[in-house]
Amino acid sequence: MDGPSGTGKSTVARRIAENLGARYLDTGAMYRAATVWALDQELDLTDPAAIAAGTADLPLAMGCDPLSEQVELDEISVTRRIREDDVTAAVSAVSAVPEVREQLVDYQRAIAADDETPIVVEGRDIGTVVFPDAPVKIYLTASAEARAQRRHAQNLELGLPSDYEAVLASVQRRDGLDSTRKVSPLRPAEDAIELDSSDMNLEETVAAVAELADR
Ligand code: C5P
Repeated sequence: MDGPSGTGKSTVARRIAENLGARYLDTGAMYRAATVWALDQELDLTDPAAIAAGTADLPLAMGCDPLSEQVELDEISVTRRIREDDVTAAVSAVSAVPEVREQLVDYQRAIAADDETPIVVEGRDIGTVVFPDAPVKIYLTASAEARAQRRHAQNLELGLPSDYEAVLASVQRRDGLDSTRKVSPLRPAEDAIELDSSDMNLEETVAAVAELADR
């Protein structure tokens, strides 16, 4: 399952994995963990060579339970840390580095091959690059405004300060960076089924994806 941020993709992918008794892998969490490592090492994020050198052999361990997310760096949980704003702001710079992508794509393929239990994998390049032969490919999208509105509502629910225009600008900035980068830009695979969730709530989106996956 691929698509931009804020479509409800992670929640939907997790629910589908749970319903199918499958494993679940959030590849965005892997790029976020690489970004935490880069920030902790105080790497120069404007220098792709420095990022490549500083993140080689990442001590990353991903859990695949759809009911509980687990991301560890050097055996320490970074499951919460990867969601913080400074990580979100820096992740596009780290995920644009080819060496980072090669390492993480290798790990994604190894995780999938490691166990016969099926796996739902979500990200930006899963259908195009990581698993071009996946039996079902979904590209989940929604307008930038709908996605920003959801993120804004989530922030307010969590009691976090939030400004809709600022959230929209951040969504648009990350979309732009992810879809114009040279390596593995965000785009639907030719054989992906596209689903626009702008006017759907979560339950409706899960039901629509489940139906597509069943075809
Ligand atoms: O999905 P999430 O918003 O957590 O992803 C964080 C970032 O990781 C994205 O903005 C993108 O830069 C990067 N990413 C990627 N390829 C993937 C998954 C995520 O480049 N397969």
